[in-house]
Amino acid sequence: MPIQNVRTTPIEGQKPGTSGLRKKTAVFRRPHFLENYVQSIFDGIGGVEGKTLVIGGDGRFFNDAAIQIILRMACANSAAKCIVGQGGILSTPAASHLIRLKKADGGLILSASHNPGGPDADFGLKYNGPNGGPATEAVTDKIFERTKTLAFYKIAAAGDIDLAQLGMHKLEDMVIEIVDPVADYAELMQTIVDFPKVRNLFAGGFTMCFDAMHAVTGPYAHTILEDMLGAPKGTVINGEPSPDFGKGHPDPNPIWAKVLMDKMYGADAPDFGAASDGDGDRNMIVGRGAYVTPSDSLALLTAHAHLAPGYRGGLSGVARSMPTSRAVDRVAESLGIGCYETPTGWKFFGNLLDAGKVTLCGEESAGTGSDHVREKDGLWAVLLWLNILAETGKSVSELMADLWQAHGRCYYSRFDYEDVDSGKAEAMMDGLRAKLNSVAGVTIGGLTVEAADEFAYLDPVDGSKSTGQGIRIAFEGGARAVFRLSGTGTQGATVRLYLEQLETDPGRLQEEPEHMLADVREAALTVSDLTAITGRTAPDVIT
Ligand code: G6P
Ligand code: ZN
Repeated sequence: MPIQNVRTTPIEGQKPGTSGLRKKTAVFRRPHFLENYVQSIFDGIGGVEGKTLVIGGDGRFFNDAAIQIILRMACANSAAKCIVGQGGILSTPAASHLIRLKKADGGLILSASHNPGGPDADFGLKYNGPNGGPATEAVTDKIFERTKTLAFYKIAAAGDIDLAQLGMHKLEDMVIEIVDPVADYAELMQTIVDFPKVRNLFAGGFTMCFDAMHAVTGPYAHTILEDMLGAPKGTVINGEPSPDFGKGHPDPNPIWAKVLMDKMYGADAPDFGAASDGDGDRNMIVGRGAYVTPSDSLALLTAHAHLAPGYRGGLSGVARSMPTSRAVDRVAESLGIGCYETPTGWKFFGNLLDAGKVTLCGEESAGTGSDHVREKDGLWAVLLWLNILAETGKSVSELMADLWQAHGRCYYSRFDYEDVDSGKAEAMMDGLRAKLNSVAGVTIGGLTVEAADEFAYLDPVDGSKSTGQGIRIAFEGGARAVFRLSGTGTQGATVRLYLEQLETDPGRLQEEPEHMLADVREAALTVSDLTAITGRTAPDVIT
């Protein structure tokens, strides 16, 4: 079979962001775009000759066609073996697990996560290393450098592989193993969560709604929740993955998972609600009439993880991304374990997990995970919650009320201003940067600034430094405002404003977040001049 060396030229804009390369699907389908990027990954990681790669994606439009191209390129670049999820399907956490389980050299995950899918929507490709986690910045930098010099890519002239057929296939000398995407993951979950206990919970009439949002967790949730744990059929809704996610926006938050939210706040609400995103790494948790912020969920899981078999021995430590609320810090302190603050992006947890410094970690952007894989894991978070609900016999609202009584409540909200002119967004950040040294002690809208800085991270494991990771302004009395520009947007700039207010008065733990955050919101808008500089009077999304 001829191996073709195809002449190409560098394509601009192939710099991986927070989570790999994400672009409009149409951009990925332009001549050479995907091929250039795949060859740059292969070259950037030092070639794939003799290596084993795990390949799979969230099933969005172009997933299967892209996998066929990647397989032909892996073959032409002399990879020894590719392990592919049946039908090209692998949730991101399941791919991370497979890389670790099969001791593969890395993996390629095809997804734009929670962004919509389809010919006019988004596509993405991400390389994960041998630890199963997203490539570190050192690696993604090498990949990006390669995209700027690429002159050829290699591809085998071959037909398509039948991705539906489980078992061994061959492409020239390269072995392709098509595996069940769910089986190994489900087995792993049974080593962490007390399945018999959760089965009893459902057998006792406990009700749940899991919204798979027409995305990749459908098959995982049907198998694990309904078939293995005995939740009644119908517990999983929108459980058929579709290439355009049912024309929806597969992001599990109160805005996009509105159907689930309405159900959970309605008259016949089930006991427990949850949702996951396009590629299965995010999660949303909601009790009967009780939405749980991702920051609070991380704190709750930290407080109770020892109730699940996987964490019986306790946690070595926890980590959260900088904009995530400081609720988990308070729980960690009471447990006497370490708590790390990292930049936004799951990849920053990898070293801490590998070094055994932390067991659980999480982000405000609906990501929670543990050392069982090197990605955030939506269904795992749901299962751990179920284990805790089963073990304590309490409802979601009771668990949250207890947590707040014990540690205080961090009222929290995120404002997103989307598709802002990049120059204006940068100007706003520059303006804040210029004030950092003079703002401490100043009173703005009734709140006095305690400290202000631009977050930089020194990785305690490998000593690498990441600067420019967001501006944080702490106020006296436990309020905090954080400003960042998103690293995952595909159009213009997205300004994120994260607001937080700690409340420890036992009589003020059940207030409306909007009301409790009014002062810090005003202070944040004043100090940043956001409205005047960006022209935006209101955020596009509040979560
Ligand atoms: C992805 C990453 C997360 C990150 C989130 C938001 O889901 O995996 O680690 O928190 O995007 O990133 P952004 O840069 O858009 O705020
Ligand atoms: Zn995702």
